[in-house]
Amino acid sequence: MEVRETLQLRSFAEYKEAYQKSVENPEEFWDAIAEKFYWHKKWDKTLEWDFTKPEVKWFQGGKLNITENCLDRHLDKLGNKTAIIWEPNNPDEESRHITYRQLFVKVSRFANVLKNNGIKKGDRVCIYMPMIPELAIAMLACARIGAIHSIVFAGFSSSAIASRINDSSCKMLITANEVYRGSKPVKLKEMCDEALKNTPTVQTVIVYRRTVEPTPMTPGRDKFWFEELQKAEKECPAEVMDAEDVLFILYTSGSTGKPKGMVHTIGGYMVYTTYTFANVFQCDHFAPTGVKNQSKPKSDVYWCTADIGWITGHSYIVYGPLAAGVTTVMFEGVPSYPDYGRFWEICDKLDVTHFYTAPTAIRALAKQSLDLVNKHDLNSLKVLGSVGEPINDEAWHWYNDNIGKGNSPIVDTWWQTETGGIMISPLAGITPTRPTFATLPLPGIQPVLMDEEGKEIPFKSQKSEGRLAIKYPWPSMARTIYGDHQRYKDVYFSAYDKMYFTGDGAYRDATGNYRITGRVDDVVIVSGHNLGTAPIENAINEHLSVAESAIVGFPHDIKGTALYAYVTLHENQIGDDELRAKIREQVSNTIGPIAKPDKVQFVEGLPKTRSGKIMRRILRKIASKDTSNLGDTSTLLNPDVVKDIMENAL
Ligand code: WT7
Repeated sequence: MEVRETLQLRSFAEYKEAYQKSVENPEEFWDAIAEKFYWHKKWDKTLEWDFTKPEVKWFQGGKLNITENCLDRHLDKLGNKTAIIWEPNNPDEESRHITYRQLFVKVSRFANVLKNNGIKKGDRVCIYMPMIPELAIAMLACARIGAIHSIVFAGFSSSAIASRINDSSCKMLITANEVYRGSKPVKLKEMCDEALKNTPTVQTVIVYRRTVEPTPMTPGRDKFWFEELQKAEKECPAEVMDAEDVLFILYTSGSTGKPKGMVHTIGGYMVYTTYTFANVFQCDHFAPTGVKNQSKPKSDVYWCTADIGWITGHSYIVYGPLAAGVTTVMFEGVPSYPDYGRFWEICDKLDVTHFYTAPTAIRALAKQSLDLVNKHDLNSLKVLGSVGEPINDEAWHWYNDNIGKGNSPIVDTWWQTETGGIMISPLAGITPTRPTFATLPLPGIQPVLMDEEGKEIPFKSQKSEGRLAIKYPWPSMARTIYGDHQRYKDVYFSAYDKMYFTGDGAYRDATGNYRITGRVDDVVIVSGHNLGTAPIENAINEHLSVAESAIVGFPHDIKGTALYAYVTLHENQIGDDELRAKIREQVSNTIGPIAKPDKVQFVEGLPKTRSGKIMRRILRKIASKDTSNLGDTSTLLNPDVVKDIMENAL
């Protein structure tokens, strides 16, 4: 039996039994699951935890390498199975099919490239790459030798790259010369060169040539991927790691300017992402009762459309699916190129069985003509997934009716960069779905709702609403923020006593299904991207004409939430369209195009509390054109500014 089969729950009754066991005896529960994996040495202690420090350790004393679980152990039975199908941006270019054996060889060889360039266990390696198989190869190669990868989404600006590299003192940067995304080339290496002016720790840059265009190279520092490969040995034994050694750092936005480098460790992350992948998606197991896929008894093709630069890609394009021995698709392009039918064309072409995407993409695609859907055969699809933000009712039904044809369960998966893996979600074909609800917690997850006074709202078969916290550790939770454990404690473990606070609000129905209602802190989710308001405000404030600014989200058809900037200017400065454009440009350069505010309103002042904190609640209401009840503004330091802001709202 393959590892995946040994992990999969098969019925609602089995789910309930597993859930109960996971709460009554968590250590025994996770022991039995972790035993399904390949370890060099079994752990001595399953769990040690103290949320007041906070400190969490899973499978202490266990020795393993995650790549042996993703690659080596499959070679016997699945060596010739396709591990990765890569679909290029340009539909006329050939797809690549890479078997588990081929991937194993490529990872081993590239791991030797890292070693040859001085990378050792524990070193940090920054990866800034497009969606090509070499991105997965680079991350697995790091894991093979015990180096820590820090992937920076290849849509981020050079200053975002530099600050992330510097925060964790990366020794190496791996990138590509350029990439086509849609019809536009993106010059990644030029972005890197700009960043590298301010990153003294980077000694080597490895450059994958994705296009034939000339590439600027700095002698001594920059090396081509292929040339380095020529010099590398084929075999690379896996470094034997401790379960609690760091696997990767991934930056996510916070409510202060600096991004948080979330630290994930090897053992717990592997166990949890693989277990949840196998159970939520039920690949190579679940077939709906409809007519689908009957003539095609081949193994499932799973496609998650996220970028590997986000946690979704880490956990559910690379580590989870590969450890489960499933075929995973990587797509280089965008949903709109060459037209808005591209996703459906790919599903048809590759016989995709599992399709996992974000509500923002669903909404954008739902706006297009249905012909773009209906001209493709979507009969292979069995399971649909959603992630990144609450999925609204309309999008849920469009997805269900037109893509799933009413007989593919939708798994609405709620989780976070910090949680490492899916926390609340249906299990496809096994537990019930409910439109716009992430439904039930996965085995091992103990969510709670907290009221305004910080007290737990007990579950008594009644509807309730509150803030979502988790009261017991799970294996893939982030262990700390790189270099700033105090901040980790402050952000996640200070709101409630001995609990992890998610930053989200949630509603719970009478049967215990959760619906996530959105962020309650200063983080805005734009098109599924988690953006902190503070770094955007900082970027705006750097403009010489700007005195102060406040960013809030407002509802947007496609993006879900878009950004609205309120800006006050220094004396004698003129707020015109030119300045608006400059401000948006500035944000784009410092953070990236996704953070550009849709609207920029110049205001005389920002509403503030007496302690000087900007009252974003009021600004949010004005931006959302919901000014009927602004609440009590009399306690403001400057109540008069509110009228001006309302009158000139965009
Ligand atoms: C925030 C985490 C998890 C990978 C992608 C985003 C929101 C995520 C859902 C969902 C409602 C969701 C939450 C969460 N979110 N999934 N299914 N339903 N909201 O990871 O960038 O760390 O963002 O995304 O607000 O806190 P992230």
